[in-house]
Parts: sequence; C-alpha cells; structure tokens
Amino acid sequence: MIIAVGSDHAGYEAPEPLYKPSVIARLEAMGHTVIDCGTNGPESVDYPDFANAVCKEVLEGRARYGVLICGTGIGIGMAANRHPGIRAATCTSREMVHLARAHNDANVIAVGRRILTLDQCLDLITLFLDTAFEGGERHCRRIAKLG
Ligand code: RB5
Repeated sequence: MIIAVGSDHAGYEAPEPLYKPSVIARLEAMGHTVIDCGTNGPESVDYPDFANAVCKEVLEGRARYGVLICGTGIGIGMAANRHPGIRAATCTSREMVHLARAHNDANVIAVGRRILTLDQCLDLITLFLDTAFEGGERHCRRIAKLG
C-alpha cells in the first residue's frame, strides 16, 4: 500500500525516538511504500502545510491513506479536514481508530506526539491500515453528506 506521511516539528521532537522517522520505518518494514511529505527536522514549521501536502497525495490518488503527526493530532487533523474528500480522524484509542475506519471510512489518521507513546502511535496506525470500512447504506449515506 502507498501511504503519505507528514508531520510538523513535533514529529522530530526530542527526546528520541523521533516519531515521524519511526513511523516511516515501521510502515516500510511492513512492506508499505511511503511518500514522505515532510517536515524533515525539528525546526518550527506550520502544521497546515504538511496536512495539505499529505491530503494532495491522497486526493490525487498517489496514496491510499495519509498519516499525520503533530503535537496533539488536533491541529493537523483540522487542517486535513478542510479538504473535501478527506476524512481525517484524530485518534487516541483503538476504539476510535476502529470506528473511524469501519463507520467513517477515514482516509487519514492524525496522532499526537505529546499525547501518545510511540508504541501507541504505531499500534493505532497499524490498526487503521488493517481495518476495513463496513460499508452499508447508513454509513455511505452519512459519508456522502460530508461532501
Ligand atoms: C506545535 O507546537 C503544536 O501546536 C502542534 O504540533 C499541534 O499540537 C497543534 O495542534
């Protein structure tokens, strides 16, 4: 699967492990191809720029899913959801991830470096990729209303 990954500087926030490189390494170890949308270091940047880059990859069909990291997962998820056709879910638990995929057909997951351990992030991202949309009339009807 091809996955676009982006973060702001929180993805490179000390102390190690640095979250964005670790997420990319894990996805590649799983056999996925990663489109790295930046940022690529700890210098302060603006999270919407990286949400926009990841959403472009997803909306233009080069990536199946997007993975976003910021301090909380909130700002970068908000930015992603400005794009029609993107359904970004900021998740902090396995249940949120499961329902984001099964009911909302989320195509982007956002996680927070200051909220979750790296292992928690990796677990949630893996679950996101492994969970299918349930489909069905009621979910499709609601998703269609999102525009
Ligand atoms: C950046 O310091 C921080 O505000 C950002 O990563 C994110 O948490 C915003 O929602």
